[in-house]
Amino acid sequence: MISQKKINIKREVLIKKAKKETLNNFIFDEKILNILKKHFLENIDQEIIIKNFTKEEIESGLASVDYWKFHGELVGKFMEKVAEDIGEDKNIYSNLGIIHDIDYLKFSHHSGNYEEPHPFPLANKLLELKFPTKYILAILEHAGYIGAGNKSFSSRLSAALSACDDLATLICTKQIDDKGNIITNDFNVILNKKAIKLIRGVEIPTHFLTLKSNCLSRVLSDVDNYVNEPLDMVYDKNKKFELL
Ligand SMILES: [Fe+2]
Ligand SMILES: [Fe+2]
Repeated sequence: MISQKKINIKREVLIKKAKKETLNNFIFDEKILNILKKHFLENIDQEIIIKNFTKEEIESGLASVDYWKFHGELVGKFMEKVAEDIGEDKNIYSNLGIIHDIDYLKFSHHSGNYEEPHPFPLANKLLELKFPTKYILAILEHAGYIGAGNKSFSSRLSAALSACDDLATLICTKQIDDKGNIITNDFNVILNKKAIKLIRGVEIPTHFLTLKSNCLSRVLSDVDNYVNEPLDMVYDKNKKFELL
């Protein structure tokens, strides 16, 4: 695991760099999207997956290419809607949602033993493709050990990505008890109005993770921290972020 100190140093450097950049001439087109899909989603070695993930994780759906593709698309849809609501760039928001976990299966931070796990391989590839630093920071900060857990978001975009990511995970997770019975979450109780509006705007999910109650995702343990509060920050016009 990467030390927090190393991450903070890197983050500060990136924020300084991002402050000097203008974003006007960057276009996130289909060509870039395809380069990333090809690089991270093609030729996924099943043997590496079997080696990196436990039997239980494979059964939960966590090691499935289809699940991660679906997850990216869903986060992209939420991000597009958020951008529309707050008057930001729909193309950037949506595409960052689509790609934010694209390196997960090849470089899992849950199971693989990589010196630089997801999302660092993606961040490095984005640096190579000359992505604006603000976007790279948003990708880095959606990961719990970097930003999401303590809500240190450098931009509104970053807070949006993190909230949409966890919202997508939440609605696609089936939590089961010891006997295999599904524990149902009442979204109307645990989610705020903005999140409810976002999930009403998308089709009913078709891909799910099935997790036992002793192996839950972070969002299931604290919906306020990972979805409701970051989403409030995104829609709060008075909320100031380090990067505009
Ligand atoms: Fe992720
Ligand atoms: Fe994600």
